[in-house]
Amino acid sequence: MSFDQYKAPPRPELFDFHGVPMSHFFTDDWENIQNFQARPDDILIATYPKAGTTWASYILDLLYFGQQERQTSVPIYDRVPFLEIFIPPHLSGKDQADNLPTSPRLIKTHFPVQFVPKSFWEQNCRMVYVARNAKDNMVSYFHFDRMNLAQPEPGDWSNFFQRFMEGKMVFGSWYDHVNDWWKKKESYPKIHYMFYEDMIEDTGREIDKLCSFLGLSPSAEDKMKVTGGVQFDNMKKDTMANYSTNPVMDFKISPFMRKGKVGDWKNHFTVAQSEQFDEDYKKKMKDATLQFRTKV
Ligand code: A3P
Repeated sequence: MSFDQYKAPPRPELFDFHGVPMSHFFTDDWENIQNFQARPDDILIATYPKAGTTWASYILDLLYFGQQERQTSVPIYDRVPFLEIFIPPHLSGKDQADNLPTSPRLIKTHFPVQFVPKSFWEQNCRMVYVARNAKDNMVSYFHFDRMNLAQPEPGDWSNFFQRFMEGKMVFGSWYDHVNDWWKKKESYPKIHYMFYEDMIEDTGREIDKLCSFLGLSPSAEDKMKVTGGVQFDNMKKDTMANYSTNPVMDFKISPFMRKGKVGDWKNHFTVAQSEQFDEDYKKKMKDATLQFRTKV
């Protein structure tokens, strides 16, 4: 169904859900999601929204299933279901994940770490987390909320900027998200924590690191295909990757694959906003390594 044919439900409001701002599209199926039965070989791709989820999903999907015909016929959001999404009349993300024909199953989540269903931990699943510097993440989230009718109204930029710093976003505070997932890897070593900026700097190197975490050793030729296939320009024109088939997104407002760059925040932040942001960032980012890695 195209965007023009789809009658979108009203934009949701934010509400507090177990201490995290959420929209009902990600909590309505809560019981089912929490009872999700993970399998030991499931791989969970976890991110704060707009940190590079689709990029990481595409890399993993190509690494495991690059040769298959579905690459050209099934959109990435169906190949890698979004666990907690529930927008009737579509299948819920949880049902999609249950019905995935592939093994391993690649499953995406934006949940803060404390919301991840317990079976993923019990089954000792591998998890891939991607973090992106806060300023670009914020800008990307702003444009996403403008074009995605299943997200709350973003308001104008200055209003959005303030709300982001206060953590009043769907899936909560960026700061809590990246910090809590970072902390979790101390007690749960099967989290591979990646950075969007590293992927931009050297995609091949980051794919190598990912492969060693996953225990994969693709041939040089296969690795080249993956590295080439996931370049921004290729994904942007690939209708199976660029979300152009997704009915809740209005591409007349903004594309999903927007710029794919580091530093676009400079086109949005005023000098005063940047200073205010940097002060606040220092207070909220306690871990020196993570503070350094997520700053531009
Ligand atoms: P921009 O809005 O800054 O362009 P997510 O998949 O988590 O929703 O993240 C989307 C962001 O990742 C968008 O950022 C999108 O352009 C960017 N992105 C997606 N694929 C990419 C790629 N192959 N290379 C670089 N950036 C990519």
